Amino acid sequence: MIKQEAPPLHHRKRQLVANIPVNKYTKSIASFIILLSFYFLGYFTAPVVVVQPQQINTIQQSTNPPAVVDHNRFSTQCVNPVAPQLVRKTILDRVFNGTSPWLNFPPAHVIPLLRPRRIKGWGSNGAVFETLIREVRPKTIIEVGTFLGASALHMSELTHQLGLNETQILCIDDFRGWPGFKDKFLKDLAMVNGDVLLLQQFMQNVVHEKATESILFMPFSTSSALEKLCEWGVFGDLIEVDAGHDFHSAWSDINKAYKILRPPGGVIFGHDYFTSADNKGVRRAVNLFAKLNNLRVQTHGQHWVIHPAADTT
Ligand SMILES: *[C@@H]1O[C@H](CO)[C@@H](O)[C@H](O)[C@H]1NC(C)=O
Ligand SMILES: *[C@@H]1O[C@H](CO)[C@@H](O)[C@H](O)[C@H]1NC(C)=O
Repeated sequence: MIKQEAPPLHHRKRQLVANIPVNKYTKSIASFIILLSFYFLGYFTAPVVVVQPQQINTIQQSTNPPAVVDHNRFSTQCVNPVAPQLVRKTILDRVFNGTSPWLNFPPAHVIPLLRPRRIKGWGSNGAVFETLIREVRPKTIIEVGTFLGASALHMSELTHQLGLNETQILCIDDFRGWPGFKDKFLKDLAMVNGDVLLLQQFMQNVVHEKATESILFMPFSTSSALEKLCEWGVFGDLIEVDAGHDFHSAWSDINKAYKILRPPGGVIFGHDYFTSADNKGVRRAVNLFAKLNNLRVQTHGQHWVIHPAADTT
């Protein structure tokens, strides 16, 4: 049936060939008329801007070699920070249309696909979390790269232990992992039509640990979520960056996260400054960022830490 609807290829070809002379002919007449009218309208005598080859050369020379500052231009201006007490409501309204994603979780069809609790993380219990939470006493923590929530849950526990019972932890992750990660780490979790169920298992972990009052999430790419937080005025007192470990992902995440670090006492930190992933990009990105912004990189175990306020006083 389909064959009959579309004319065979050689027919179409012939049609095309037949059309060409007509098109060419009408085209040349049209061009001639346009040219003629331009002439009479005086366009050719008006000072038309003509780019001389020399000018093009000059432009090329001035951008060669490309200035590194061009890659450092994350230009969105963030709006003024909303009050910490409004952070949760802002996210609920903006991301979840005003309805908590924890309501009625897990839905019946997902229950058989999840483990009651399945947590896997890397460096999620490092001492750096307690050190920084004690020091900053954050009202808003933003985590860039969450996976199954190991470090978010660790931070939630710490804030409660320290009596910071109003602290909100905002987890940003697309909850997709990365291509092929399940073969290595989560063979035991279900995959449904290609969906790795990371978001659902993360949510289940948070429900299991009774941390739904202190944890919210944004299930989007780190780049788009950070951009939106900047637009909405959601700032973090403590920001942990631990998402993509290649240079460009880390570079983008650090630069965008830094824009929403609450002044003056905010602290930004991240994992894998010293682990095997270090020279793949994280350490390079952190060092370049610090250098361009006149900041000092401190280290704590495998983590890097930047305290902007400590560097400007
Ligand atoms: C969002 O919430 C409003 C009012 O609460 C409701 O009318 C609307 O249908 C909701 N939209 C979606 C996509 O659920
Ligand atoms: C936080 O804890 C303090 C003391 O434990 C309590 O008085 C206060 O009501 C708590 N606040 C919230 C929001 O739970």
